[in-house]
Amino acid sequence: MISRDRLIEDFPILNDITYLDSASTSLTPRPVVDAMNDYYLNYNSNTGRGSYKIAIKSTNKVEQTREKIAKLLNTASQEIIFTKNTTEAINLIANGLNFNTEDNIIISNIEHHSNFIPWVNKSIDIRIAKAKNYVVEPDSISDLINKNTKLIAISHITNAFGSIQDIEEIIKIAHEMDVLVLVDSAQSAGHTEIDIKKLNPDFMAFPGHKGLLGPTGTGFLYLKEELSEEIKPSNLGGGTVTSVNGINFKLEEPPSRFEGGTLNIGGIIGLNAGIDYLLNFGIPKIENHINNLTKMLYKGLQANGNVTIYGNPNNIHGIVSFNINGLNPYDVGKILDETDDICLRSGFHCAIPGLKSVGANEGTVRGSFHVYNTKEDVEKLIYSIEELSQFT
Ligand SMILES: Cc1ncc(COP(=O)(O)O)c(C=O)c1O
Repeated sequence: MISRDRLIEDFPILNDITYLDSASTSLTPRPVVDAMNDYYLNYNSNTGRGSYKIAIKSTNKVEQTREKIAKLLNTASQEIIFTKNTTEAINLIANGLNFNTEDNIIISNIEHHSNFIPWVNKSIDIRIAKAKNYVVEPDSISDLINKNTKLIAISHITNAFGSIQDIEEIIKIAHEMDVLVLVDSAQSAGHTEIDIKKLNPDFMAFPGHKGLLGPTGTGFLYLKEELSEEIKPSNLGGGTVTSVNGINFKLEEPPSRFEGGTLNIGGIIGLNAGIDYLLNFGIPKIENHINNLTKMLYKGLQANGNVTIYGNPNNIHGIVSFNINGLNPYDVGKILDETDDICLRSGFHCAIPGLKSVGANEGTVRGSFHVYNTKEDVEKLIYSIEELSQFT
């Protein structure tokens, strides 16, 4: 997909390692680092506050990024709220939406903790849809909906198994019953085209630092405009009000009312460059590339009789979760790093209920991909796993 020379030019870190952990955070292309350096070295200033030239420039850059994201997702820029990660975007809704004691929320048993703990932490009825074959069937969600269901919170692509959930159908079912839907897009943003107008979620939480190739400390929330008055901002302060009279204040319009304090300006400017980097290839092409690598790894591991894979080859994107039978996943990750400089995730991937539900009681090893991965990376991993599994 990218020539070796360009890969090393854009991602010099790949000189030393084989990086297969993009589901945790992606590598940062040089143009992203350059854009951030340019901001810090040449126009470092706060946004929305100064009338001097460099403050206007940084404000414009942040707003351009918001517009770029809105265009990418086919929505309006005032519906995009910057956060520091996906988790903060989910918590903004979990803490801001008003729940009555009789309300209930539906989540699934294969969510990342960031789309699990903020909900189970609330003192209301939590209904948990159980996945079958690594995916939550829309029917199993509709069976749980009743007149008191306020919200369904569901991931688009699961980080534990790479399974793609039918969010289109889930949103349709939910809206027929007047239920709100929050989609956790941590593993799908930048991996597949997302059209918010078509999909029609009420809230969608995104990382900037995974599929969109931005730096860590970036993320955002899509908040449907007509619902914004229903969300109580939980991070009030500078930038969130238009006037203050005594102890009374008037809130800014969205998104500003939700973005208290100084934003991660350098990070957002980096994210802008990350999205440009992606769009140079085009998301469909990247999706196809990642799908090919995913299938190749799945097949290669399937051929190894000492490996258990946790995932469905017919419904998987970007992530392969597995164990070498008889070996602890942490040990496998550590050995492959020490012997072959392969970076893999091991453990529960912040999805303990999901991994326990498939019997992976010590977690799994997880390989995950992005645009900079190659067939050679996959071949190397398959070979290293073969070597290691001979010792079991
Ligand atoms: C499905 C899913 N949701 C939420 C998160 C949390 O993302 P962040 O680290 O951006 O808060 C992750 C991170 O891996 C994830 O995979």
